[in-house]
Amino acid sequence: MAEPWWKTAVVYQIYPRSFRDTTGDGVGDLRGIIEGLDHLEWLGVDALWLSPVFRSPMVDHGYDVSDHCDVDPVFGSLADLDELIAGAHQRGIKVLLDWVPNHTSDQHPWFLAARSSRDDPKRGWYVWRDGSPDARPNDWCRGFPPGEPAWSWDETTDAWYLHLFAPEQPDLNWDHPGVRSAMHDTLRFWLDRGVDGFRMDVVHLIGKGNRLPELTPDEAKAPVAFIDVPATHERLREIRSVLDEYPGQRTSVGEVYLLDPARVADYYGRGDELHLSFNFKPMFSRWRAASWARNIAETSSLLDRAGLWPTWVLSNHDNPRHRTRLGGDERVARAAAVLLLTLRGTPFLYAGEELGLEDADVPLERHVDPSGGRRDGCRAPIPWTADADHGWASADTWLPFPLAADRRNAASLLADPSSILHLYRALLAARRRSVALQLGSIELVDAPDDVLVYRRASDGDERVVAISFTEQPTAVDLPSLTVEVSCDPDRPLGEPIDGPLSPYEAVLLTASPGA
Ligand code: GLC
Repeated sequence: MAEPWWKTAVVYQIYPRSFRDTTGDGVGDLRGIIEGLDHLEWLGVDALWLSPVFRSPMVDHGYDVSDHCDVDPVFGSLADLDELIAGAHQRGIKVLLDWVPNHTSDQHPWFLAARSSRDDPKRGWYVWRDGSPDARPNDWCRGFPPGEPAWSWDETTDAWYLHLFAPEQPDLNWDHPGVRSAMHDTLRFWLDRGVDGFRMDVVHLIGKGNRLPELTPDEAKAPVAFIDVPATHERLREIRSVLDEYPGQRTSVGEVYLLDPARVADYYGRGDELHLSFNFKPMFSRWRAASWARNIAETSSLLDRAGLWPTWVLSNHDNPRHRTRLGGDERVARAAAVLLLTLRGTPFLYAGEELGLEDADVPLERHVDPSGGRRDGCRAPIPWTADADHGWASADTWLPFPLAADRRNAASLLADPSSILHLYRALLAARRRSVALQLGSIELVDAPDDVLVYRRASDGDERVVAISFTEQPTAVDLPSLTVEVSCDPDRPLGEPIDGPLSPYEAVLLTASPGA
């Protein structure tokens, strides 16, 4: 049987506010994404994940949902989203929406009802505690701003409510059957409209419900609370059965923010929970051959040997872009592209990676992120052109453009065949034509210090990847293989490596003639 699409796919994350603006309000919109589909088809991605586009007061820029079944006017309309899904599907591109199950906006009609009176039928849909306004129920901390208490006092009904993020994001009580069935219906609403699946926001948190687990002080203080309880797995099995009601391999990728691959592996269940889970520990590792060898070995032993399919991510809307994190050197950004797109597992690209973007410098007075501005830089608007408005309908954008947008923009890089944009395209094409890269095994190969070499193989198809993590030219001994893609534009293709790898060079090699 053919493998499901989400195993061979490369998923491209769009942060809709920052992708492309067609209305002139300085905020990206769905019509902007529709205009960007040609770019994504040319690039060669298989699926899109849209960060939330639902109705929202935008305290957390959409991760505070006030209506799960409608599009916020700042992004457009339901009809625009239908057109986007149809346009993507026509191009063979799948669409994942971002489902936010742990909390709603405090403006969601469910919470407005719940806080209206202790007797309201929706009261139990959220997590309430009696007490006095000067004694919080426990010492849990919230994400925004980090370290502040996770409880707010509600004066209308004299009770505390729980919010693991901002006070405007009250946590749902998934122990309540009404919450479960209403949230399942929000999935069905979008599945009926043809979406291919969901990224599930902080989904490891939902099991706590009304029965709050004991947390150590460190677990309670973590910026994303470290909650990992059996009840979540029961909830995930129910969610999985909703997806399984639908034909066509609808999928789920969970944001399981636990930074421990062994715990992350549990969230796949026995093939009856998440289809995929993010595994963030590697994202935070250093740019060293030994660290990535460890990441590969650990992932293989925990996930793929148990028949679970890994994911890989280097950047997203919550963390500094990897080019910024790794010091800004374009050669490293190029090598990182080779790594991400040749590992065993489903890679997630964050929009703008293909342009080699670094974060924007966002001055204090322009900070808009409720976590204290930490995530503003990586959410800078995507530059499409070299001119002052960078292809946006207004140059007055909600956040400043990233560094060097006059050079690092889609139009300028498209015109330069040696650019990082063309490297991403070549890697995506190479991945698509190789079953070894899409589905094959991964095996580490002995290599000099500061060089990582691995072999991918499946059914007679084979690729070898060599990545130099050093500024020194380094010799590698890979004689019978020819270069299919290199991040060094001067490296001849279709020939064996002649001489050392250049500083920070990464190469994809093949033994297959004519690949
Ligand atoms: C997740 C999202 C993040 C959001 C938070 C609360 O971590 O990725 O952007 O702020 O959840 O929903």
